[in-house]
Amino acid sequence: MRGIILAGGKGTRLFPLTKVTNKHLLPVGKEPMIFHCVRQMAGAGLTEVLVVTSTEHMGEIVSALGSGREFGINLTYRVQETADGIADALALGETFSGGEPIAVLLGDNIFAQPLAPFIQRFREAPDGARILLKRVADPERYGVAALDEQQVIAIEEKPRAPKSDYAVIGFYQYDQSVWDIIRTIKPSPRGELEITSVNNAYISQNRLSYDVYEGAWTDAGTFESYYQANQMMFGNLIKP
Ligand code: TTP
Repeated sequence: MRGIILAGGKGTRLFPLTKVTNKHLLPVGKEPMIFHCVRQMAGAGLTEVLVVTSTEHMGEIVSALGSGREFGINLTYRVQETADGIADALALGETFSGGEPIAVLLGDNIFAQPLAPFIQRFREAPDGARILLKRVADPERYGVAALDEQQVIAIEEKPRAPKSDYAVIGFYQYDQSVWDIIRTIKPSPRGELEITSVNNAYISQNRLSYDVYEGAWTDAGTFESYYQANQMMFGNLIKP
């Protein structure tokens, strides 16, 4: 099993904080945002991890993370030349995966609890896709899972009338068929290769399962959620 952290994108919603640096290097708690992702991977025992980022920020990302030795893992890097979507960034991981299943983390997703148990479970039976759902108060902001008793039957991107309050959050696990699936999907109306299209392709093959994450989580891509991420990570540090 190998890990992939996606840290490309444009970070436009955090402008001007992202005018001269990459979103994933902004501080969250006592460390740059991306350190939390690297620690999640290391904590799950994944020793080979790929980081994908943009041409402009690769230098800074490598300066911050180095070889991975500080975290006890080996880091590999790949450049996504244009921000053509999460699935486009993921496609750069095919050779790196070496035919092994993968755990994919979006670099701006902060989890207070370890992802290790979810990774362990998939590692034991790596078949199809396994996504992570979280109950949220504002599902219309996210990809939302329509569920029957046991299965996700569809994922709808930012629906006006969400079919549940389970958001699909930024941690995905895939078997090696993900690479062929990415080759079949088409860009969305906003011109990006969407991870939701990949997950819906697995659903249409009846090969998508899920876990529910109960701990504190936020993305950190808007000013409000970036503030929440800092509150979450400082929660343990600031004593009243
Ligand atoms: P988004 O927050 O959807 O996009 P963004 O980071 O470009 O931000 P904004 O919408 O404010 O311009 O991306 C979610 C995560 O996915 C983020 O951590 C970076 C990663 N990502 C890539 O690696 N490549 C991409 O092409 C895109 C769009 C996102």
